[in-house]
Amino acid sequence: MNKKTLFLAGIFLVMAFSSCYYDVEDELYPSSSCDTSNVTYSQSVEPVLKNYCYSCHSTSMASGSVVLDNYQSVKQVAADGRLLGSINHESGYIAMPQDQNKLSNCDIRKIAIWINEGMQNN
Ligand code: HEC
Repeated sequence: MNKKTLFLAGIFLVMAFSSCYYDVEDELYPSSSCDTSNVTYSQSVEPVLKNYCYSCHSTSMASGSVVLDNYQSVKQVAADGRLLGSINHESGYIAMPQDQNKLSNCDIRKIAIWINEGMQNN
């Protein structure tokens, strides 16, 4: 084996091992990429709504009379079940965000936790 072959073999091994390592890590810690240890309105809920919902659900652009750009309004829509129903694509609710991909499981889980913990303004 010449030096170049060794070098390429080395790179191949490193790549093979690093991808294995990620696979194993994913199986061992399936939720490692979704940190739900400290869910709050300002850190976990508001940023998601801002990214995916404000464009159609702000005070000045309230599609379906649903406003999501302030805590009080979000709390109302969450309390009557429509927030979670719509982002979970449950039957009986209009699937949101409209005409876009479903939110990530992690984002949905955080919003569900926030609701379960009493929808605090934190
Ligand atoms: C592209 C525009 C658009 C986006 C983005 C969007 N919505 Fe909507 N949303 C609408 C429209 C339009 C309606 C009213 C639909 C109707 O009444 O037929 C609606 C209705 C709703 C309703 C009422 C559903 C029901 O079953 O009564 C909720 C709750 C809602 N949206 C939440 C959200 C959330 C949460 C997001 C972000 C994750 C979001 N929407 C993103 C356009 C949008």
